[in-house]
Amino acid sequence: MVFDEEGAFDLNPDEVIKDRTHEGLLYRRKVPVAVLGATGNVGQRLISLLHNHPWFDVKHVCASERTQGSRFGDVVEWRQSKPLPKTIADLLVEAPEPNIAARVIFSALDSSVAGDIEEAFAKKGYVVISNARNHRMDPFVPLIVPEVNPDHLALIKKQPYPQGGCIVTNPNCVVIGLTTALRPLQLEFGIENLHVVSMQSISGAGFNGLPSLSILDNVIPFIEGEEEKLCLEPKKILGTTTDTGIKYLDFPISATCTRVPVTEGHLVAVSVKLKKKATIEEVRRAFEEFTPPIDELRLPSSPKKAIYFFEEKGSPQPKLHKDIDNGMAVCVGSLRPCPTSDYKFIVLSHNLVRGAAGGTILIGELMLAQGLIHW
Ligand SMILES: NC(=O)c1ccc[n+]([C@@H]2O[C@H](COP(=O)([O-])OP(=O)(O)OC[C@H]3O[C@@H](n4cnc5c(N)ncnc54)[C@H](OP(=O)(O)O)[C@@H]3O)[C@@H](O)[C@H]2O)c1
Repeated sequence: MVFDEEGAFDLNPDEVIKDRTHEGLLYRRKVPVAVLGATGNVGQRLISLLHNHPWFDVKHVCASERTQGSRFGDVVEWRQSKPLPKTIADLLVEAPEPNIAARVIFSALDSSVAGDIEEAFAKKGYVVISNARNHRMDPFVPLIVPEVNPDHLALIKKQPYPQGGCIVTNPNCVVIGLTTALRPLQLEFGIENLHVVSMQSISGAGFNGLPSLSILDNVIPFIEGEEEKLCLEPKKILGTTTDTGIKYLDFPISATCTRVPVTEGHLVAVSVKLKKKATIEEVRRAFEEFTPPIDELRLPSSPKKAIYFFEEKGSPQPKLHKDIDNGMAVCVGSLRPCPTSDYKFIVLSHNLVRGAAGGTILIGELMLAQGLIHW
């Protein structure tokens, strides 16, 4: 484990909690964190959201050899609406190697390299919270949506890493909104089967992901590997913890994934068959009254409500609703009966915030509040 100048990484979190106020926990000092893949779409959003964060302080930015050794502000093509903070602009871009003075590693690395790099950090005792897909389905790696399955964090105790090192993952950007919407239905009625069609924004493919001429005035009805993730990840997230890992929730999912010419915000058309019969009013109430167990922690990045339910026809929409509660809300609407399943509805979430950067920060906050990060 690496210690900072003050050598304080091994403090018990209870000793550094300053106060429990009506707004949540306050800590005496912030946790030093690093962002891997800092130049990319998700990495930049992480930096933007972590600026002035009450608990975390970005001390290191890491990216590929292309930019290593340069001043971050000189090499990043900054595309966030908030200006790049000067303290971050002045940092040197480092190699993503586990010898940096940080306790938590927020990874937004390209999946072609994320797997080995994240494991190397965990082996050296770092807490890795990742947006990449590489470790999501590992038996003892939790795949976390804080409002849905916070209890799955218990899996990290079974990971083989020393000194509190661990890997925790954020699910696929569509799956986060989808499973949040499904959770109240699972709890109230059970889920028999699911059919989903995603309409995913261009930013989901990364900054260099799609040539504009391929997607403008077009819909592409295929995203490599995406249908597989939509059919598998919800079963793990909605599953239960056992001694041997997660027992997946057993229900068939059929998914079609499309890329649409929207910059940010993924929309999903969902048809669900429930195990127990429910009226449309009961389903609406389940969405509206869903109160996740983490609400009482009042985490800094939590949305005010886990699910925003829309009565109006034609809602929710990416352009109008993706930024609710700083982009952390999951929006559900257009609820109506389905002639082949029971009900159909629309789910919207911000892919870069709720579905990526904001989601990993919320996981970090949850782990800190639960005493799973010692520093
Ligand atoms: N975009 C989304 O909506 C979304 C949502 C959920 C999850 N994710 C996942 O989050 C990750 C990042 O996605 P993104 O959209 O931000 O991609 P991106 O814009 O392409 O950024 C990729 C980042 O990885 C870095 N990188 C690439 N190769 C590297 C290497 N060999 N060593 C060190 N760093 C390297 C890049 O650094 P350079 O600039 O130096 O090349 C860049 O900072 C991916 O795993 C993706 O699947 C994305």
